[in-house]
Amino acid sequence: MTQILVLNGPNLNLLGSREPEHYGRDNLETIEKRTKEIAQEFDFDIEFFQSNTEGTLVDLIQEAGKCAVDFIIFNPAAFTHTSVAIRDALKAVNIPFIEVHLSNIHNREEFRRNSYFSDIAIGTISGLGAIGYELAVLAAHRYLSDDTRQK
Ligand code: DQA
Repeated sequence: MTQILVLNGPNLNLLGSREPEHYGRDNLETIEKRTKEIAQEFDFDIEFFQSNTEGTLVDLIQEAGKCAVDFIIFNPAAFTHTSVAIRDALKAVNIPFIEVHLSNIHNREEFRRNSYFSDIAIGTISGLGAIGYELAVLAAHRYLSDDTRQK
């Protein structure tokens, strides 16, 4: 069974009440539920995590490398703009991933435009709100079933 890991960075546990003008009104539990529903349609085995700690995210990515995770959907939140450690972990395990942001990181403060992940991700979804996670599952399905892609 295809294993998908969804990782969420700092402060995403506050979704629902946190700056709704940027992040919408859905909480992470609702997003997780909807994302899992889509994943089930593709028979994906999917796990969802959120952590406010950089080291925990690095550990989860390293663990994913050992557990044969096929694909990662990742909202690194503020670590998007700061974390060489998480970037290095993703490069080390070499698991394809999609970077997801609820808000459009390109039309906010200047510092949000820089991502440590976009150039090593399969692709990035930014600014579409909570549906970005569901679209990422669909994109993961297409990506994993495309035999023309170089392995
Ligand atoms: C975010 C965008 C980041 O700039 C911010 O630090 C977040 C959330 C998003 O989903 O839009 O915490 O990743």
